[in-house]
Amino acid sequence: MFKPVSVTSDDAAGRVEFVGDAHARVNLIGEHTDYHQGFVLPTLMPQCTTARVQLRTDRMVLAHSTIGDGVHPFVLGDESPGLGWIDYVQGVTAVAARAGLALQGFSVSIDSNVPVGAGVSSSAALTVALLRALRGALGLAIDDIEIARLSQRVETEFVGVPVGIMDQMACSLGRQNEALFIDTRTLAIERIPLPSTIELIVIDSGIKHQHAGGGYAARKGESFAAAAALGAAWLRDVPIDQLPRVDALPTETAKRARHVITENHRVLEAVKALRDGDVARLGELLNASHASLRDDYEVSTGEIDTLAALGQHDPDVYGARMTGGGFGGAVVMLARPGRGRAAATRITDAYRRLTGLRSSILMPLETAQAQ
Ligand code: GLA
Repeated sequence: MFKPVSVTSDDAAGRVEFVGDAHARVNLIGEHTDYHQGFVLPTLMPQCTTARVQLRTDRMVLAHSTIGDGVHPFVLGDESPGLGWIDYVQGVTAVAARAGLALQGFSVSIDSNVPVGAGVSSSAALTVALLRALRGALGLAIDDIEIARLSQRVETEFVGVPVGIMDQMACSLGRQNEALFIDTRTLAIERIPLPSTIELIVIDSGIKHQHAGGGYAARKGESFAAAAALGAAWLRDVPIDQLPRVDALPTETAKRARHVITENHRVLEAVKALRDGDVARLGELLNASHASLRDDYEVSTGEIDTLAALGQHDPDVYGARMTGGGFGGAVVMLARPGRGRAAATRITDAYRRLTGLRSSILMPLETAQAQ
């Protein structure tokens, strides 16, 4: 299934512009399960990244962003990491060439209102948007799953962060108002409409996460050591009734394994609750996920815990948890419909009083913004 690329205009020189876009994602539940071939349940947010591509006749790439830090040139085949956001453009061309796709030079202008470092996949939105634009411009024979796979390789092979495939699958195949239930082992997906009885809140804590900082890779390593101690290649393969075996492991190893195994199970429970329209149960599962990420996986921070707790205690919120890789970033909450914006405003005000930090409400948008 190809998402259509819009061909917007001919510029003065007669060059056609190919436009690809991709939205930010928020993961509802299923955190740190994807690299264990487990289950995840993300959805898309209104924030979006757009890539506008015009082909050139040589092998130069000229990348420019509306953040206004100039034009960054590089030559296809000469990509080299270490240049900030340009690495995601260079990573796309490097990985696409390695995958055997025939490229030619282009200029690209990137525009985005996806916050960076908020745990809502700004990098996957960029690589997916660019690959969509290039697919249209160059007629590349790649489907949406291949776009997700290539985008993941940009992170793991070029940028050097050992991420799973959730973010790229979400940005490439997700839709707003619909949870995307992904089995990351098979990449099978199921679309589950979000019930009208909930409204999503997403608040950026103001603490920027940094996966390259090493916490993510460290947890990943610890979790694979835990899997090995349980005789499994992936924790996906350790069923929930094996928890007594997990409890017998050394404390830290047991905690890492317990999180992934219970979180995977919570995703399945959340899918059931979504189908049943049981929003109270869904809220409980989000709260339990947060506790597990805080206590067993230890990827939360004091500030994020405060933000999640404020949500969990709000009368219009069913449940709240950190979302994304952790060590900062955003919190997702399930609110009563029509109450999300007011609840989020109460929560961010209280957060500021308690921590001195200014957070921002990413969802729901103010009515004026949403129109
Ligand atoms: C980051 C990674 C994902 C996933 C989450 C944690 O967002 O990119 O692959 O591992 O962290 O669930």
